[in-house]
Amino acid sequence: MSVEARSTEPAALPDRRPVLLSLNDAARVHGEGTAVPVRALNGVSLEVRVGELVAVMGPSGSGKSTLLHLAGGLDTPTSGDVVVDGVSIAGLSVKARAALRRRSVGYVFQDLNLVPALTAAENVMLPRELDGVGTRQARLEAREALREVGVEDLFDRFPEEMSGGQQQRVAIARALVGPRRLVLADEPTGALDSLTGEAIMKVLRARVDEGAAGLLVTHDAQHAAWADRVVFLRDGKMVESAAGSRIS
Ligand SMILES: Nc1ncnc2c1ncn2[C@@H]1O[C@H](COP(=O)(O)OP(=O)(O)OP(=O)(O)O)[C@@H](O)[C@H]1O
Ligand SMILES: [Mg+2]
Repeated sequence: MSVEARSTEPAALPDRRPVLLSLNDAARVHGEGTAVPVRALNGVSLEVRVGELVAVMGPSGSGKSTLLHLAGGLDTPTSGDVVVDGVSIAGLSVKARAALRRRSVGYVFQDLNLVPALTAAENVMLPRELDGVGTRQARLEAREALREVGVEDLFDRFPEEMSGGQQQRVAIARALVGPRRLVLADEPTGALDSLTGEAIMKVLRARVDEGAAGLLVTHDAQHAAWADRVVFLRDGKMVESAAGSRIS
């Protein structure tokens, strides 16, 4: 009887963590059928699992925000599919997409989108109250989320009374509040100094490690290093995917 030589290389184990977001050949064309259609995203496939933080990099206009809009159900693909938490975005009504977003997605917009007439606390409470959480509970959660990003003292301030970086941190608190498991952040550290930026990356990383999944657009290689993987876009296409050098 012959004894087969066994490889000493450990076999790669299949990743059994659930997939929270998947894009399958997703494309978004603006002005389809017109003389000059814009292919903002051109057939991107990507999976993000629970516990994974994926950074998205690429030049201006390469489709990073478009990718995030699709991932967050703010927009629908013109072809291909986007599945969030097991639900295909393409088949949903506008109302059902909004409900899925509120339930599953925390979004930090590139232009922040804080509601000017609401205080920091009220901005953070808003998505929770829309989801039926009582005011008392929503206030407690808002205080905790603002504390987590280091701006608890801004609780009763309006956006116009805050610096750009402070507004950015409130927007991040709003995306992290509650149990939402897919966190999408479009250059969340753009207006922050490097120390604050690193602190925010730490918060984002911790949330993902606790059982969320994250997609982070950044121009900063140091922030991308917090990710498990970096994908690069150019002209709406994914041109490269590399392992992030994760700092722990
Ligand atoms: N509503 C729209 N109508 C037409 N073209 C659009 C629209 N939104 C985006 N685009 C185009 O799609 C392409 C991708 O835009 P996108 O905002 O995704 O880029 P980006 O990578 O986020 O850039 P930046 O780094 O400047 O934020 C660009 O060429 C942009 O002009
Ligand atoms: Mg953008």
